[in-house]
Amino acid sequence: MASLVVAGAMAAPVRAQEMLSYTLVGDAIPEPLTGVRGDPARGRAIVTDRQKGLCLLCHSGPFPEQRFQGDLAPDLRGVGQRWSEGQLRLRIVDSRRLNPDTIMPPYYSTEALTRVGRAWQGKPVLSAEQVEDVVAFLTTLTEAP
Ligand code: HEC
Repeated sequence: MASLVVAGAMAAPVRAQEMLSYTLVGDAIPEPLTGVRGDPARGRAIVTDRQKGLCLLCHSGPFPEQRFQGDLAPDLRGVGQRWSEGQLRLRIVDSRRLNPDTIMPPYYSTEALTRVGRAWQGKPVLSAEQVEDVVAFLTTLTEAP
């Protein structure tokens, strides 16, 4: 019996990480997805990462070491002043809820994504922890350009 259970468990496919639910209040998600706030230094690394966040494909910001920055979206300088933490969280989680035609990818959603590579299907682009790290970093960007 016991050995059967173990064998069954080993044969089971690795389950995709469960998506956490969140509560929208107006145009914001006031509470951290994970229940705790993230780490701004890790968030900065995700934002400037060319594979993970890809934010600088579209955005520019206070990243003097980054040679190529995007000009398809507002500069990230000052976003921590323009938006509350909860407003920033919704913009990262799923900007489509504010602007259905946005070109900004939903970073924490698996719904209705088109043109998603097989490896990414059913998975959010960022984990809930990574979303919180990015939000924590964005709240530090209080200096306007
Ligand atoms: C493909 C382009 C694209 C990518 C990639 C992208 N964004 Fe955006 N983002 C936009 C656009 C365009 C807007 C303007 C609002 C809109 O059209 O939805 C925006 C708006 C924002 C805003 C609100 C800015 C303001 O001042 O109003 C924040 C904050 C933001 N993005 C952060 C990020 C972060 C952080 C990442 C990476 C994790 C990212 N974006 C990736 C295109 C992008």
